[in-house]
Amino acid sequence: MQISIQKGDILDEACDLLVVNFFQGIEKPGGATGAVDTALQGDLSALLKQDRFSGKLGEKLCFPTFGRLKAKKVCVLGLGKKADMTADTVRQIGGHIVKAARDAKAKRVITILHGAGMGGVDAELSAQMLGEGLWLASYEFHDHFGAETKKKKSSFPSNILMMESERKHIRPAEKGLERARILAEATVYARDLVNTSPRHMKPFNLMEAAKSVSALSKRIRCTVYDKERMERMGMGAALAVAEGSVNPPQCVHLVYIPKQRSKKKIAVIGKGVTFDSGGLSLKPADGMTTMKIDMAGAASVIGLFRALAEIDVPAEIHGVFIAVENMPSGGSYRPGDVVTAMNGMTIEILNTDAEGRVTMADSLSFAAKRIKPDEIIDLATLTGAAVVALGEDYTGIMSNNRTLVRSLLKASEAAGENMWELPLPELYEEALKSKIADMNNTGGRTAGCIKGGLFLKRFVDGIPWAHLDIAGPSYCEKETRSDTPYGGTGVGVRTLMAYLKSLA
Ligand code: BES
Ligand code: MN
Ligand code: ZN
Repeated sequence: MQISIQKGDILDEACDLLVVNFFQGIEKPGGATGAVDTALQGDLSALLKQDRFSGKLGEKLCFPTFGRLKAKKVCVLGLGKKADMTADTVRQIGGHIVKAARDAKAKRVITILHGAGMGGVDAELSAQMLGEGLWLASYEFHDHFGAETKKKKSSFPSNILMMESERKHIRPAEKGLERARILAEATVYARDLVNTSPRHMKPFNLMEAAKSVSALSKRIRCTVYDKERMERMGMGAALAVAEGSVNPPQCVHLVYIPKQRSKKKIAVIGKGVTFDSGGLSLKPADGMTTMKIDMAGAASVIGLFRALAEIDVPAEIHGVFIAVENMPSGGSYRPGDVVTAMNGMTIEILNTDAEGRVTMADSLSFAAKRIKPDEIIDLATLTGAAVVALGEDYTGIMSNNRTLVRSLLKASEAAGENMWELPLPELYEEALKSKIADMNNTGGRTAGCIKGGLFLKRFVDGIPWAHLDIAGPSYCEKETRSDTPYGGTGVGVRTLMAYLKSLA
């Protein structure tokens, strides 16, 4: 899909679909919509009235022009109330434009820089938001369909042109659009990794994806530790999780070196369980069908590096994940086992299905001991309890550092990704006690999401750290946002990029 910006008048160009907008609570259309209305001798405003078009966000009214305009069809898109408009509204508009274009079977689409000059949105930001919405919405995962089915799949518009009349807005808009392209490509790359069936996305494949991303830039290096090297480093916890699978674990360390030498070092850790059957504490059939998504944290780390291959940020970034498969077999680790993590702490396994925190004990220890970063941010589909507490659309953030939480919440808002903080109270540490080891790996029935966070906290060695439980938003089963289609979402990639941008 080609998206570009051009100086000119929307009425001068031929296209299959022209998309203009309308605010809720407005009497008469103005701007581009007003111009279309005038060209149609007021028929547009008459139609809006007749249709009781309210203008709420995402509402659409499409009609053919029968040769009265150069555009074959026009779509009026509701923007919601003027006072409610934010940058994310424009991103959502991008998603709705893709829907309107598909409904109209339009290949060539023309639209405007929606919302530019309002609610703190300038031409650059409007173009970035629109670009993100357009590209993120035009995603479908086709890899596993047979050749015949693939041919029949409906397609997306091939050409989207944003027309802007003022010359001074063209350069900034192009800049915003370029950032959108990079962020969307990185997000979609993470989605592909998540959507790939688990027999095609084993620990080896996830490691290879990280390697191929590192090959995109001279600023990125990738080191892989195989099972023997993990043994030598003392990663007894992650290795135990891997024991049930015939597919060996992989420990992956990516490094991004910024253009300007930077003193700040940030480590981003992802949970990389390529399939979570639960192990001997086997999941019920229904709970297992989507468990290919259990590497979504690692996928977002890889997606982040894909963006870093094209966008410079002012910090040294380390990406770490341990890829493992959690399977039941004669070799599996057992409930009752005690395992030792890389930092020397011992863990009594009460449930082999709480494997995420057991593997992350070693990836976090590796980061804290070997990398010694200034900050650690982890992303993990850690607990079903996070989905119970916050639902499918919110990431739970837990942290030992106020400043980091504040910055990440702000970044998530800029990225249009919902995030809410949960506490890490000392009070609940009790639940992690074990009579025979330093801790147990479940923490009991209540506050599961928080206890997962408290467990991880023990492995970051006091370094400022934030844990993002993405169990809900990593996967979309019911579409709630116009820019997020069914399947893996690539959640976190754009929040992290927004955070790294804010460091400048
Ligand atoms: N990968 C799951 C968490 C999960 C559940 C992610 C649903 C996405 C959707 C994790 O490994 C797990 O099984 N956690 C257990 C922990 C419990 C045994 C302490 C859970 O949440 O039930
Ligand atoms: Mn599990
Ligand atoms: Zn898991």
